[in-house]
Amino acid sequence: MYVKTIICISCSPSRGRNSDSMLDAFIRGVRTVSLVRADKLYLEDIAIDTYSFENRNGPTSHEGAFNNLIEKLRYAQGLVIATPTYNFSVPAHLKNFIDRIRFLALDFHEKNKLAQPTGKLGHLYTYFLVSGGTPVWAQKILFFAFPPFWLRGVFVYFGSRYVGSRYSGDLETFNNRKILRACERAGVRYARRVAYGETKGILSRIFWRPPQQDI
Ligand SMILES: Cc1cc2nc3c(=O)[nH]c(=O)nc-3n(C[C@H](O)[C@H](O)[C@H](O)COP(=O)(O)O)c2cc1C
Repeated sequence: MYVKTIICISCSPSRGRNSDSMLDAFIRGVRTVSLVRADKLYLEDIAIDTYSFENRNGPTSHEGAFNNLIEKLRYAQGLVIATPTYNFSVPAHLKNFIDRIRFLALDFHEKNKLAQPTGKLGHLYTYFLVSGGTPVWAQKILFFAFPPFWLRGVFVYFGSRYVGSRYSGDLETFNNRKILRACERAGVRYARRVAYGETKGILSRIFWRPPQQDI
């Protein structure tokens, strides 16, 4: 049976802390769903040179681990990014990773109405897990100054499907069972979406009828 692969990238340098724990809980949820496989990796384990004109077309010969990640992303169906908020944005190595996948993510031969390259990541269902030091109520008001907003913008530009994001403003998220449980439930919903495609509401699940030919 065809199993769909979800690449889960933990981007905080602080392992076992907030965003990493959110990701672990999310993956626990994902793994309760059949037909999907979650592969977790730490972005800091992968050496990636800073973007430059010379490396614009992909990993260079000494970037073997980065090349492996690119190959996984080519064939995966899901991408989950877990990251802390750093200075209204994401840690530098995550930003650089996103800069470097430009060659994979954009088609420079096909431009849209704004003369921008079109996205090539339509095969990826994306989800973002973000930790920060700002309470949720303030993050909701200042949403544009936090990674879920920016990450969503970039990956939609890259053509991928946005499934959702979760933000936690608790500095001890790793101890917060309520938030971790919510991440786990989000993982289940996300995995179902990846496994079965577009989500179906309860009514359409009951009444949905497979495509059939009229005679
Ligand atoms: C360099 C640095 C910059 C930060 N900038 C922000 C920020 O702009 N907004 C915010 O809400 N929290 C900020 N924080 C707080 C972290 O996002 C917060 O501690 C988060 O829970 C860390 O997640 P982690 O344990 O997954 O690394 C910053 C922390 C550091 C170390």
